[in-house]
Amino acid sequence: SRRAVLGGAGAGLAVGAAGGAWGRRAWAQAPAADAGAALGGARVPFHGPRQAGIVEPAQARVEWAAFDLLSSTRRDGLAALLRTWSAAAARMAAGEPAAEGENQIALDAGPSSLTVTFGFGATLFDKAGLADRRPEALAALPAFPGDALDPARSGGDLWVQIGADDALVAVHALRVLVRLATGLAAPRWLMSGFARTPGATPHPMTGRNLMGQVDGTNNPRPQDAGFDAAVFATGPDWMAGGSYAVLRRIRMLLEGWDTLPLDRQERIIGRRKSDGAPLSGGPDAVERTPVDLAATDPDGVLRIAPDAHVRVAAAASNGGAAMLRRGFSFHDGLLPDGSPDAGLLFAAYQADPAHGFVPVQQRLARGDGLSRYLRHEASALFAVPPGAPEGGYVGQPLLE
Ligand code: HEM
Repeated sequence: SRRAVLGGAGAGLAVGAAGGAWGRRAWAQAPAADAGAALGGARVPFHGPRQAGIVEPAQARVEWAAFDLLSSTRRDGLAALLRTWSAAAARMAAGEPAAEGENQIALDAGPSSLTVTFGFGATLFDKAGLADRRPEALAALPAFPGDALDPARSGGDLWVQIGADDALVAVHALRVLVRLATGLAAPRWLMSGFARTPGATPHPMTGRNLMGQVDGTNNPRPQDAGFDAAVFATGPDWMAGGSYAVLRRIRMLLEGWDTLPLDRQERIIGRRKSDGAPLSGGPDAVERTPVDLAATDPDGVLRIAPDAHVRVAAAASNGGAAMLRRGFSFHDGLLPDGSPDAGLLFAAYQADPAHGFVPVQQRLARGDGLSRYLRHEASALFAVPPGAPEGGYVGQPLLE
């Protein structure tokens, strides 16, 4: 795991991941008072061959920010911005102040597993005079049936994903990066999300979404054969080791969903709600029991329904299409009709969206059982370049 603990406050700090980089953080063995210190002191290095914030477990809090370049910003201005942003992100991830005289919202807190991940939208390349270097994989996503996208909350020249296990740490990093962009780029949209706080469950577990389902079980894992090929790009040159992030703000129609009986809810997904076990596995199945899409009950009826989400989304149903999902919940108050503006900030990382997200969403949108309870309200696609070495910045191989 990249996670490490700064300043060992107390014995038995256990923030290292269980079961490799993808495993959830281990339950701290230390008394509760020390568990808090462990959470704040956990740090994920900013520098490395890959950007942080892709394979690491989702933190408790995320801020997504899209920026548009100001019309006066050229390639050198973009390079200056990315250099400044990378330096500030590296300092904050190491638990150091981002800059002189900063506002210190997060004073007192450690980095709390802060990761800052930068992405480039298709529109960036023309504006920065780099049209000939725009990767083919950044081609616009097709329109999907049922899309209800708000252009003002979609797209963007630049994207920053800020994750931390403390909300003040995350928002502080956001404020720092917005201020550093002054005169070069302006925020286009912001979204805030959340996931389980480490330590909230008695042992590390897959998280739940706002429909109450265990969500993330069948994600590919870094130790799986083919993981790198599915998630990380090999080209163009400056993108080797990077990834492509598809973002969707998906509102859940929770009022309708919440009135469904439990067995309906379970059939719609194809997994048990209590523990996430696949419905193909019978009463003894556990979360990790492999899904058997062919399993039938004694009457010959498929145990995982033809329109169950896990069947329609499975790689086996989509020519092997695979992606690493790393979404967060959002709950942003009420809509004018009184219903909750809540759902999933869906993010999928893949080597090429045309072989990951796109075919899967095409099938889901045509009618898996879940789509009826969802509205895709915003969409974006970003090239997430490889990480920067010490002294370098994200995007440097493209810009210099
Ligand atoms: C699996 C929920 C949207 C792709 C799952 C599972 C749940 C779930 C509960 C089963 C556990 C797991 O393996 O993670 C949701 C909800 C969504 C949503 C609530 C919207 C709010 C999407 C979208 C895509 C997607 C938009 C991609 C276009 C997948 C894939 C799997 C999956 C690939 C794994 C299937 C397998 O191989 O078993 N989702 N999902 N999901 N979902 Fe979604």
